[in-house]
Amino acid sequence: QGERLQKLLAATGYGSRRVCEDLIAAGRVSVNGAVAILGRRVDVDNDLVEVDGAPIGVRPDFVYYLLNKPVGVVTTSRDTHQRQTVIDLVPLEPRVFSVGRLDVDTEGLLLLTNDGNLANRIAHPSHGIEKEYLVEVAGGPMSAGSIRALRDGVLLDDGMTAPARVSQPDPGVLRLTIHEGRNRQVRRMCEAVGHRVTRLVRTRIGPLSDR
Ligand code: URA
Repeated sequence: QGERLQKLLAATGYGSRRVCEDLIAAGRVSVNGAVAILGRRVDVDNDLVEVDGAPIGVRPDFVYYLLNKPVGVVTTSRDTHQRQTVIDLVPLEPRVFSVGRLDVDTEGLLLLTNDGNLANRIAHPSHGIEKEYLVEVAGGPMSAGSIRALRDGVLLDDGMTAPARVSQPDPGVLRLTIHEGRNRQVRRMCEAVGHRVTRLVRTRIGPLSDR
């Protein structure tokens, strides 16, 4: 089943079949994160093939925008209230869509692309891609007990949240990392421990960060 790795690499422009075999033998090629052996077959639509840690098969007709979304801009592609959308902030062609979403009152990183495979890999909850947020809360510094509750999981109306990483770099400012993506999750988590969110910025999506 699938395409032989050396053939795929050669077809993608990494050199002759022989050169590509050497790349594999040298341990420079991985499939889904594990070093590949010669003769390995891959499913081009689903396996992630990397050479020296860089994904192959990035086609020239694919575009990727890492947008710093401002407050007040909506993530949907067409807003019924005539508000500005994230799609209005990037070139019209080629048409892109957002991978996941941010609330209108949330700022920070949002990925826009026309690469449906990548979008599915990132957005699918089973992959548990980490998202990191900087959160300013009302109601003063958060107590150690509340932070522990956020770490362990809090009960929302759609169930318990999974364990999260939470720190308080400044009083009333949290750095929070989750790998679920429920609607308004960060805001609801903080409200569950008695703090309203006054500013929410996404600072990382998996390996993509604003630093
Ligand atoms: N959590 C929220 O509450 N809002 C977002 O926009 C993203 C995560």
